[in-house]
Amino acid sequence: MFESLRAKAALSGRLSPPGDKSISHRALIFAALANGQSRIDGLLLSDDVMATRSALEQLGVSFSRDKDSLLVSGIGMTGLDKPADVLDMGNSGTAMRLLAGVLAAQDFDSELCGDESLSKRPMGRILKPLRAMGADIAATQAGTPPLKISGRRLQGIDYASPVASAQVKTCVLLAGLYAEGNTSVTEPSPSRDHTERMLAMFGIELGEHCSVTGGSQLQATEIRVPADISSAAFLLAAAAMVEDSEICLENVGLNPTRDGFLRALKLMGADVTWQNHSSTAEPAGDIRIRYNGRLKSIDLPPEWIPSMVDEVPVLMVLAATADGITRIRGAGELRVKESDRLSVMCAGLTQMGVRLKEFEDGADIEGCSVFPDAVLESAGDHRCAMSFAVMGLLAASGHRIRGAGYISTSYPGFVRDMNSLGATMMMNDLS
Ligand code: S3P
Repeated sequence: MFESLRAKAALSGRLSPPGDKSISHRALIFAALANGQSRIDGLLLSDDVMATRSALEQLGVSFSRDKDSLLVSGIGMTGLDKPADVLDMGNSGTAMRLLAGVLAAQDFDSELCGDESLSKRPMGRILKPLRAMGADIAATQAGTPPLKISGRRLQGIDYASPVASAQVKTCVLLAGLYAEGNTSVTEPSPSRDHTERMLAMFGIELGEHCSVTGGSQLQATEIRVPADISSAAFLLAAAAMVEDSEICLENVGLNPTRDGFLRALKLMGADVTWQNHSSTAEPAGDIRIRYNGRLKSIDLPPEWIPSMVDEVPVLMVLAATADGITRIRGAGELRVKESDRLSVMCAGLTQMGVRLKEFEDGADIEGCSVFPDAVLESAGDHRCAMSFAVMGLLAASGHRIRGAGYISTSYPGFVRDMNSLGATMMMNDLS
């Protein structure tokens, strides 16, 4: 349980949120499979990323530190060892789906499991293409973890994914690096492209339709992980809601496949500006936001959802404070995240007196301006917990939120960072 009290004053200051979760998972996996030693700066140190790192250690990869950098001794595409135990992916769908692509192609068997939330998440979306490539993977009848993988030689595939999912795309491309011939992936709309950018950094040129050639080798490199725009979103939302606030977030990832939340903030009338200052493969820069009065409701363009899929919960909070009815559609994917985020957020907002209508793929949310205190259920979902914490800044005196421990999935320093900007949040225990 943790508490988020009503903001007594404006939020102000500058800080750099923690490293990007998506890029951190990929940096560890690609560096592990590369030839030579890679250096990673700015890696996110959170439970999800630790799950990937521990699994790689169990597969024989070694890591060391040099000041603030992590050094990864790459063992090459064929250097992984058979793990002695089941590999526990904890809460991380990214860790499970990406590593399944690698493990399906090894000459040993392995098993991937996860916590209660991950054990309910759909794996059919990766099992279908991997099995079409010749993989032998058993899941539960419902297509959920654990995944029992009998490693074998795979065939290349041209895969037309029915969902815009970077996890599916990356899983298939990782398997494709081991498969015979070429492997390509197309999607109904573009998902985040960190894998494509990172493959180029490791010396792999992608072919047409996002294709890789089996047998390619990765060459070690240096990676600078920018701050996570998905974590920054909570701080930006807080500053957009609390009167007279002004904050600057430094070195945040500004990848155009991830910037939907910034565009949505602007559309709602927030005074937010950003500029790319980075010369690396991943655009990054400082984001400034200043309270600009009550936000306006919007019809969120459904085609923006893939570029802000993890930010929809906190956007729902902003919608609850905005003037008018915000319409969100095309967000059905939220139902298969760490929780059913549409239902968890709608339940929490309803508890706070917000009038809304839930749809299969979204919600209509009518903004209001007075919020009672509540005890809110995060359903073990880090992003719902942080979204409700942001809402607490406007509650009568504050909120209590169940599921504090889950915040460390992606943002272990969230409460510290919020408080350094002037909020009052307290961890009571980690339940
Ligand atoms: C991620 C992709 C997204 C996102 C998740 C991380 C990734 O999931 O929600 O938090 O690192 O590839 P999908 O690919 O399933 O949309």
